Amino acid sequence: MKKIALLLALAGCATALSAQEKVVNIYSSRHYQTDEALYSGFTKQTGIKINRIEAGEDALIERVRNEGARSPADVLITVDAGRLGRAEQLGLFQPVRSAMLESRIPASFREPSGQWFGFSMRARILAYNKDKVKPTELRSYEDLADSRWKDRICVRSSTNIYNLSLMGALIDRLGEAKAEQWARAVRANMARDPKGGDTDQLKAVAAGECDVAISNHYYYARLARSEKPDDKAVAGKLGVVFPSLAGKGTHVNISGAGVLKHAPHREAAIKFLEYLASDEAQRYFADGNNEWPVVPGARVTNPVLSALGEFQYDPINVAVLGRNQPVAQRIFDRVGWK
Ligand SMILES: [Fe+2]
Repeated sequence: MKKIALLLALAGCATALSAQEKVVNIYSSRHYQTDEALYSGFTKQTGIKINRIEAGEDALIERVRNEGARSPADVLITVDAGRLGRAEQLGLFQPVRSAMLESRIPASFREPSGQWFGFSMRARILAYNKDKVKPTELRSYEDLADSRWKDRICVRSSTNIYNLSLMGALIDRLGEAKAEQWARAVRANMARDPKGGDTDQLKAVAAGECDVAISNHYYYARLARSEKPDDKAVAGKLGVVFPSLAGKGTHVNISGAGVLKHAPHREAAIKFLEYLASDEAQRYFADGNNEWPVVPGARVTNPVLSALGEFQYDPINVAVLGRNQPVAQRIFDRVGWK
C-alpha cells in the first residue's frame, strides 16, 4: 500500500515538473521558413518555449519509432494526410479530445478519433500554358486521361506523397479499376518520364516542354508572389484550374499534426495544436506559405490566394487518403508511373 502511494507521489512530482518546464518538443517536416511566425507567436502567447527538430517525414517517423517510450517528442507535424496516416498506422500518436479543435476544424480535415488534425489546406491543381490550352478543356482530373493530352502532361514521380494521396482520392471516388484506367491513360499522356518536384513541372509548362502540369497550388502561388523576374515570368505564362474529381470538387490535402503517444509535455502539446487552429496562426499559414486556413471564416489577406478565388473542394475525409496508399502505390507500379 505504502509503496503504491509513494509511486503515485513520485508520478505526481514528475508530472508537476514537466508541466513547470513550460516547453514543447516538436518534430516537424514542414520545410517553410515562413513557419517561424507560427512558433514565435505561440511562445509569445503562452510563454511555452518550443524546441524544434526539422527533418524529412520518413526520417522523423523512424526517429520517433526508434526512441519509443523515451522519445522527447511531443508533437509531430507533417505535410499531407497520407504521411500522418502512416504515423497513425504505426501507432505513434495518442488520441486528443479538444472542444476547441473539434469546433474549429471541419470534420473532414481531422482524423475522426483525434489522432491528428489538419491545420492548413492545399489543393492539387492543374496549371496550363495559356498560349496552348483553354481552361474549359480541363474541368476534371478525369479529363487528363483523354488521348488529346498525349505527350502534353508533366507530373512528378508516383512515390511522391501528394500523388499517392491524389490516387487515394481517385480510388475512393471512382473505384480501384477506374482509378487504374485513369493512371494508365495519364501515364500514356506524359510528355516525359516523371522527374523533379511540383515547381519543376510548372517551369516545364512555361518552357513549352508540356502543356499542363499537376501541382500543389502553393508552388504556383510562390512563383506568382516571388520578387524574382524569372519566377514571375513562369507564373505569368500559366493559368490555373481547380479540377473536379467525380463531380465532387477539387482534391485537397492538409498539413497537420498530432500529439505523440509518449509525449512528455502532453498539455503543452495540446495547447500548441489549439494555437495552430487560432485566428492568428491560421492567418500565418495563408500569408506565409500560401495555404488556405482550414478554419471556416479565417481571414486571408494573401493577394495570390484571393486572386485564385473560391473553389469547391471534395469533402472526403482526408484520413481516407492515407488508408488507400498501399493500393495507390500498387496501381502506380502496375501502370509504370515511376
Ligand atoms: Fe510541398
